[in-house]
Amino acid sequence: MNLDFAQLVPSIPYILYGIWVTLQFVAVSLVLGFLWGTVLSLFKIGKVTILRWFADAYTSVFRGTPLILQMLIIYYAVPQLTGMDIGAFTAGVLTFALNSAAYISEIIRAGINAVDKGQKEAAIALGVPYRSMMLKIILPQAMKNILPALMNEFITLTKESAIVSVIGALDIMRRAQIVGASNYRFFEPLLLAGLIYYLLVMLLTLAGRVMERRLAKSD
Ligand code: ARG
Repeated sequence: MNLDFAQLVPSIPYILYGIWVTLQFVAVSLVLGFLWGTVLSLFKIGKVTILRWFADAYTSVFRGTPLILQMLIIYYAVPQLTGMDIGAFTAGVLTFALNSAAYISEIIRAGINAVDKGQKEAAIALGVPYRSMMLKIILPQAMKNILPALMNEFITLTKESAIVSVIGALDIMRRAQIVGASNYRFFEPLLLAGLIYYLLVMLLTLAGRVMERRLAKSD
């Protein structure tokens, strides 16, 4: 065993700064993925056949291929077609948002279907327009049911965000690798990176529990 954490100490702030980078990727992707996922879920339960077909095909493709492949296509292959370079941040966020939306749309679709159908019937009977019924009656109830699944997706995204290291974004993972390569000691920085990811996930788990408990109070 020749672990030497003393050598890691000067590099700790450098690695810690990666938390901020990682969180930016995750937060922006989650918001975009959630919005797009909601739209897709509405397509899925809607009456328009072509939109339903599109949303199903979309989910199938994004769930059926590796996330890292999608990211490499967006980062390297799309610029080849458009002649426009996109940065690692844009490529990463776009990939995660598009990918996550596929999963989130399934989560929301299931959540909407789980809302008692009497709610919809009552809304229709009262003459509430479809849009208001969805936004004010069905979706808020669905959101409560799907919170645990959504938190799960949040956690997945936090860990999966480590693949942006492949396209050169300076997230936690990439920083740990750089420090490892410059000291010829990989174990210590990778261990630190692992610890940071673990703590982030624990924090999210805790936040999810607190939110769940709060929402349960109104039952
Ligand atoms: N490693 C998986 C893949 O490459 C991650 C999929 C992302 N999952 C998610 N729930 N967003 O397909």
